[in-house]
Amino acid sequence: MPDTYLQLVNSGPTATLAKRLGLPRPAVLRRYTPGAPLVDGPVLVLGRGDDADALARLLSGPAGGMAPGTGTGSGTAETPVLLDGWDLEVHRHPAPDVRYGAVVLVLTAAERPDQLTDPVLAAAGPVKGLRSGGRVVTVSRTATADDAPAVAAARQGVDGLLRSLAKELRGGSTGNGVVLTGDVPVTAPSAVAALRFFLSRRSAFVDGQLLAVDSTAGTLPADWERPLDGRVAVVTGAARGIGAAIARTLARDGAHVVAVDVPAAGEQLTAVANEVRGTALQLDVTAADAGERILEHVRARHGRLDVMVHNAGITRDKLLVNMAPDRWSSVLAVNLESQLRINEALLTSGDFTDEPRIVATASTSGIAGNRGQTNYATSKAGVIGMVRATAPLLVPFGGTANAVAPGFIETEMTARIPALTRQVARRLNSLQQGGLPQDVAEAVAFLASPAAGGIVGRTLRVCGQNLVGQ
Ligand code: NAI
Repeated sequence: MPDTYLQLVNSGPTATLAKRLGLPRPAVLRRYTPGAPLVDGPVLVLGRGDDADALARLLSGPAGGMAPGTGTGSGTAETPVLLDGWDLEVHRHPAPDVRYGAVVLVLTAAERPDQLTDPVLAAAGPVKGLRSGGRVVTVSRTATADDAPAVAAARQGVDGLLRSLAKELRGGSTGNGVVLTGDVPVTAPSAVAALRFFLSRRSAFVDGQLLAVDSTAGTLPADWERPLDGRVAVVTGAARGIGAAIARTLARDGAHVVAVDVPAAGEQLTAVANEVRGTALQLDVTAADAGERILEHVRARHGRLDVMVHNAGITRDKLLVNMAPDRWSSVLAVNLESQLRINEALLTSGDFTDEPRIVATASTSGIAGNRGQTNYATSKAGVIGMVRATAPLLVPFGGTANAVAPGFIETEMTARIPALTRQVARRLNSLQQGGLPQDVAEAVAFLASPAAGGIVGRTLRVCGQNLVGQ
């Protein structure tokens, strides 16, 4: 269902009228297409210390590769890092009259709250002049109970800074943070890949999020445009909506895709599978043998399985007081229990062991709750718990499991929401619009990539910084 309001406030006389009336004017987001520049304009890297220096070198270094050691930053002698530079125009101090495409605030060295002051205030002017569709990315460390109180205060302070700053950005710009856990170096593959994802157009609808990097696991791609080259990925619920977008996006990034959906959606499923030059598997994910059928299919048709994307989902909304048992059970069966059963089959098969990835679809309803959705929110919160507990089981194989939590996304599912409620729901985030299926698909593709191996059991929201929940 097209967002007519978004189109009106961005075109001709209606745009002028909206401006005069002071109406919210959501920007048309710039989305990724192959070959698009990583950042539209120069990048300002603020912050002191080895980590800031290392990231500045990475961003400005030649694309053909940098000498071993030059990109190590806080890497150690035992783990030399050869980083392919990103060839961006990088400044270390704000230059007057320059409109930046991105500001990277490296705050890992802050050990007291007052050490945040200089880099944060130095960002003010550049953020004011940020180009539309610009990016602000903080890089910080997680605050833990083991830290000295002042260290924890400074580190936790970055959360509030980032979440508030993201709400102040305009023109389709976003703010997100990479948070390093423990002593994970800033040059760890997943830290580098997360920074790149947040800087790029791939994260157009991800806003106000802090993504933790838990380990040094993961492998950087030979080609950032095809991070899934040669990988085999199964996507459930792929006949339409977000699932079809995931199938297209994984295929664009180099994966062989198995598109799964119920037999009733067979025709649409075949169309998607043909479009992405993958294969179709008609399967109800709630079938007791769904995992075995997926394994049989990939063994016979593709010879391997690397990525399992659990996207199939349903809603059966009712207040709990009016909830018929089958409305409760069917939602849990499709959205959660099927995923547990399929994962168990994959994990015990012995055929899901080469840096495997599970990416499951949760929802902001599972984080904030939603009236009329006790069944759905239970299932989606369950997904968040499931990936947290499943990821450690995959770590011995270089694997991981993570979730995406979409907010309001324009699909057939949300087109069924009554018109007025839909209009309001779209505006309740910092970007004042609904996301597109592609936005969720980009986050899934990032978490499915070999570079994301150090992100362990996390949930990444794709919600334009929805005002509900954390
Ligand atoms: P959709 O209703 O457009 O598509 C869901 C697909 O899953 C359909 O093709 C359907 O046939 C398939 N499916 C349903 N039950 C199945 C089963 N038992 N076995 C195999 N396939 C089955 O939904 P949409 O909007 O694309 O959502 C995709 C996922 O994203 C769902 O898990 C949903 O809960 C989640 N989500 C969507 C949001 C939105 O705003 N659209 C927000 C948050 C989460």
